[in-house]
Amino acid sequence: ERSYCVTLLPGDGIGPEVVAVAKDVLSLAGSLEGKSLSLKIDLLSCVCLNDKFRIKFQFKEMPIGGSALDAVGVPLPDETLDTAKGSDAVLLGAIGGYKWDNNEKHLKPETGLLQIRAGLGVFANLRPAAVLPQLVDASTLKKEVAEGVDLMVVRELTGGIYFGKPRGFGTNDNNEDIGFNTEVYSVSEIDRIARVAFEVARKRNGKLCSVDKANVLEASMLWRKRVTILASEYPDVELSHMYVDNAAMQLIRDPKQFDTIVTNNIFGDILSDEASMLTGSIGMLPSASIGESGPGLFEPIHGSAPDIAGQDKANPLATVLSAAMLLKYGLGEESAAKRIETAVIETLNRGFRTGDIFSSGTTLVGCKRIGEEVLKCVDSQKPAA
Ligand code: NAD
Ligand code: IPM
Ligand code: MN
Repeated sequence: ERSYCVTLLPGDGIGPEVVAVAKDVLSLAGSLEGKSLSLKIDLLSCVCLNDKFRIKFQFKEMPIGGSALDAVGVPLPDETLDTAKGSDAVLLGAIGGYKWDNNEKHLKPETGLLQIRAGLGVFANLRPAAVLPQLVDASTLKKEVAEGVDLMVVRELTGGIYFGKPRGFGTNDNNEDIGFNTEVYSVSEIDRIARVAFEVARKRNGKLCSVDKANVLEASMLWRKRVTILASEYPDVELSHMYVDNAAMQLIRDPKQFDTIVTNNIFGDILSDEASMLTGSIGMLPSASIGESGPGLFEPIHGSAPDIAGQDKANPLATVLSAAMLLKYGLGEESAAKRIETAVIETLNRGFRTGDIFSSGTTLVGCKRIGEEVLKCVDSQKPAA
């Protein structure tokens, strides 16, 4: 039996609703693991492998974001970061909400999220956007444009304008109030994210597009220079460069031209939300954030959706798929991850849809119900005794 500590950070808004579903799916997928592995490896050793390969999770639920602010007055309590650091992987729902929108910066839920990303050192954020055939009709794009899209945004997550200094509020020469931020990247920060992206591209279709604003920004000029230099180490990967404004347009014009995209923190934030709409809904897009060592952070790319929170309307599949990424990228448990992905596809095949991905002819259900359907589809993969 393998046992992992997973920190759960439900957060705010729909966060707790979608994490509850993903937690149950993780548990069930793990509990079935021994059986399938044993069958794959050797039918004869089926019985003795059974328990040995079962995955057990020890979940620890901790506060972050607005709920942490309300409970203890800070958006990332020390105990939350310590627990996360001491675990094998971290699953996060979402943070934020109207209630805290006017808080000072250090008391914003979003600050807690940036602090945990920095605290865990998870600089590489993988955001896959694949259009499932079942959801082509949920996309706002024409079928022939959306069909078959399968791309990966590799977003730098712990640098750039989100963290650059100087930043703050002040006054200019005319004594006018100003707010300012700094986009800054060092060679080592660019190199390490570029290497991750080249490796990711190598395992996919071997095409990497680096997105920047090198026609205007010095940080982007250095970015382009370093990515170009590193390309010589990856001769099997075809590198191209694109300005971010053009990339935003090309993603809608002809998304299939992209395989792997590597970009900075803020461009990656924006382009991944854009890419999510190719797939039908932001409620479908998972992410994995990985560092050099230590636990990874796994979260849907969407936010706390305060407009639908508490109404059982949220699509939990982005978080369920983030749990699959947790298994695959965080724990190296590929077969359990596959189980979850298969169950999600099967749930869609059976016609169940939350409101965000609903189209005529499908069955509209809530967050809890689609979660139950995913569980059934995980369970149905249990090999017959
Ligand atoms: P959002 O992603 O929360 O919501 C945008 C729209 O998408 C809303 O209409 C929402 O209902 C819908 N949506 C999002 N997730 C959905 C899901 N799983 N199922 C169905 N519909 C879904 O973005 P926003 O409204 O700009 O931000 C709301 C709050 O979330 C803000 O406080 C923001 O800072 C925060 N936020 C947090 C994260 C995070 O925790 N990683 C990410 C983005 C935004
Ligand atoms: C995301 C979110 C966050 C970001 C916010 C809430 C800080 O938009 O995870 O995409 O900008 O990184
Ligand atoms: Mn975002």
